[in-house]
Parts: sequence; C-alpha cells; structure tokens
Amino acid sequence: MIPKALREKLQSQINQAENPLEQAINVMFEVQRHYGYLTDEGLEEAAAMVGATPLELEELATFYDFIYREPVGRFVLHVCDGVVCWMFHEGSLFDYMCRKLGVCAGEVTADGMFTVLPTACIGNCDEAPAMVVNGQFFGHLTPERIDEILEQLKTEPCDLVLCR
Ligand code: FES
Repeated sequence: MIPKALREKLQSQINQAENPLEQAINVMFEVQRHYGYLTDEGLEEAAAMVGATPLELEELATFYDFIYREPVGRFVLHVCDGVVCWMFHEGSLFDYMCRKLGVCAGEVTADGMFTVLPTACIGNCDEAPAMVVNGQFFGHLTPERIDEILEQLKTEPCDLVLCR
C-alpha cells in the first residue's frame, strides 16, 4: 500500500484537476516510483484514486513505454528502435546491449542493475543512434560508447528517475 503522505499528495493534485483522469499518468508514475514498477496493487490504488477501473488504467499503462508493469532494473535502457537510429549504425545496438548484459528485452540483469527495452523514436534523430536511461539522454552511440556508459552507470547511485 502506498504511504499516507504520498496518497495525500496525489489526492491534492487530483483535486486540482478539472477531471481526475487528467492526473492518471502522473499518479501511475508516482506509484511506480514508490514500488519500483507499477505493481498490480499499485495499479488498483492508482485506478481508485482517479476514479477509473483497473482495466482502464491498464490500457493506459501499457500504451506508455515508460510505465513498467513488470519489475525492472535500477537503470532502464530505452534504446531507440526508430528508422534513423537503425540507419546510423550497422547491426543492432539493441542486440549488442542485450548480449553485453546477458539479457533479453525486458529482463533484469542478475545484479538487478539493468533492463533493456526498445522504444520508438525518442526525438533526437540528429544524434542517432540514441537511448534514454532513467530520463537521461545519450546520443551518437557506438558499442564502445555503450561500454563506457554501462561502466559509468554501475558506479552511479541512482533512484528510478522517470521520463514523461
Ligand atoms: S529514430 Fe532514433 S531518435 Fe529518432
């Protein structure tokens, strides 16, 4: 169950909205931040707060790449799967990252650090190939650059920072 303080904060935001559903994404992000991903319990709590059914919120949650309905690593590597990023690199950087970390898409590495997910164009095609990690953008990716970034992330303390 989410803490009382978080519930009250979210309820206050919902009360200021013209329609409680306007706050649905925000509430799901905050609940996700609390649990580490949007658990079934969290989804039900979020739905009750905005006056929707769990199924209605489930439909919304699964539409967004940045709402996670399964457990994720501390760092979620959203690798752009758009056509421009494909053009700027021979071979798939997504596959490279999965091989490097020993996971398939959506899995969590054994140390709990990383999850790799494909995502649609992230809007920085001029810096392709690109990815977003916990809200931070990385462009001009190469296998070497990816290796550096992964090493750097391993030493960074980090909360689950979410993109919107
Ligand atoms: S296609 Fe990758 S950032 Fe646009």
